[in-house]
Amino acid sequence: MASKLNILFAVSEYDGIVKTGGLADAAGALASVMKEKGHNIRVIMPAYREALEKIETTSIASGAVVMNHNETLWFGLRHGRLNGIDIYFIEYNDFFDREGLYSSNGQGYLDNSRRFAFFCKAALESCRVMAFQPDVIHCHDWPTALLPYYLRVDECQNDFFHNSRSLLTIHNAAYQQHTDVSQLEALGIGWRYFNPACFEDSDQINILKGGIAFADKINTVSPSYARELLTSEGSHGLVDSFRRRAKDLSGILNGCDYQQWNPVTDPMIPANYSSKDLSGKQLCKKALLERMGLPITVDKSVYGLVSRLAEQKGFSYLVPALREFLQQDIHVVLLGSGDADTAAELQRLQSDFPDKCSFYNGFDNALAHQIEAGSDFFLMPSLFEPCGLNQIYSLKYGTLPIVRRVGGLIDTVDDYDASGAKGTGFAFDAPQPDALLVALKQSLDVYHRPDQLHGMRQQAMSCNFDWQTAAVRYCSVYQSMIC
Ligand code: ADP
Ligand code: GLC
Repeated sequence: MASKLNILFAVSEYDGIVKTGGLADAAGALASVMKEKGHNIRVIMPAYREALEKIETTSIASGAVVMNHNETLWFGLRHGRLNGIDIYFIEYNDFFDREGLYSSNGQGYLDNSRRFAFFCKAALESCRVMAFQPDVIHCHDWPTALLPYYLRVDECQNDFFHNSRSLLTIHNAAYQQHTDVSQLEALGIGWRYFNPACFEDSDQINILKGGIAFADKINTVSPSYARELLTSEGSHGLVDSFRRRAKDLSGILNGCDYQQWNPVTDPMIPANYSSKDLSGKQLCKKALLERMGLPITVDKSVYGLVSRLAEQKGFSYLVPALREFLQQDIHVVLLGSGDADTAAELQRLQSDFPDKCSFYNGFDNALAHQIEAGSDFFLMPSLFEPCGLNQIYSLKYGTLPIVRRVGGLIDTVDDYDASGAKGTGFAFDAPQPDALLVALKQSLDVYHRPDQLHGMRQQAMSCNFDWQTAAVRYCSVYQSMIC
């Protein structure tokens, strides 16, 4: 059994280079832990415009992929290093030298399937170019979900990849990438694989579905979400695909990078603090209110949110619930980017409660840290949540999360117990304003009982969801594929 593995991480986001959500955090943290464990890990990703602006790279080689019978595309391979990790970039300007990763101005690029199909093929070709024979190709989400198919079908006769196995980690099964069937050839998918057990989904190609069929193993990012994926209600329409692969599907809880998300050391917050001395948290609260243009009344409780503005995150019922809850003497601080209609609703909330609610529309990592530190409670009422990282960060900052009982939120937050000081947050079931309001009111009651608040904060801050634990589980999945 090989102990040091050659691992290729094929990703579309990577923390410190390009990020739209938790996928970047997870990929960056896991790659670092794998490296620490002594594995030979290489990360490969598209040479997006933003990526090349962020990190210094050099051109090291070129390669070519055949996209269909008569179309060969040449690409450049660039190399950079981040925190000691070797990162390789597939350079093909027509596809990746664009303003956004997947979209511009809220419009998804129409050729996304082809862009990422090309990326998957180029990632495999790059291994050949670099003479890097991976034991494991670790793919993440739909952008790399075609890679297991190309590995299994196109490369099956090829000695180079004879011992390579693929793991597909599903960070979010709602993003599947459907494409018209006329694109089969352009994506290099054989007609025989256009059937309901592989890529076919309501007469369209479903890229994630193909990845589920062809990856050697599949995992998702929490045990509870893994269970949900095996149900009709929780599988985002892919229940048959997941059930077919049930024995190869596992749930591995994400970790938290405590080097970045720790109030004791965080350089982005105005005052550091620990569970032993929470005085810095008050200073963070004051600074947050000031930054967000709210009255600096630190005795009132602050409810924070940091989120992609997407349907998944529960805004449809969060906004009406907040509208009512804002009648109370509280502050609400919101940070988000994404869907324009949701942004407009949050803007309206701010205009209607200018002394209580403040919304920053944009992506701002430092502000995300400041909200984690300066809030008393963190809002995470997701409709579904594969894992969720923000509630894990909140726990470490003593900012009690208010969560819906779904997916990874179940696995990370212990519901408060009215009889004592037990619990690390507040959980509710129905995705309805009323159910959320019950949890919000519970939290406000706790806020006014300082002993109970302190007790819950202590428990929250002592939680540890480290990447080492996750990495051990990933390693055993890797080993199970290559034995
Ligand atoms: P998801 O991946 O579904 O967006 P997670 O909770 O797993 O949810 O991870 C979200 C990550 O993205 C966190 O690191 C969070 O701080 C960050 N994030 C999301 N929206 C913003 C934003 N507008 N500004 C800064 N950081 C954000
Ligand atoms: C996805 C999920 C989120 C998860 C993150 C990292 O974007 O929505 O729940 O924490 O990926 O795995």
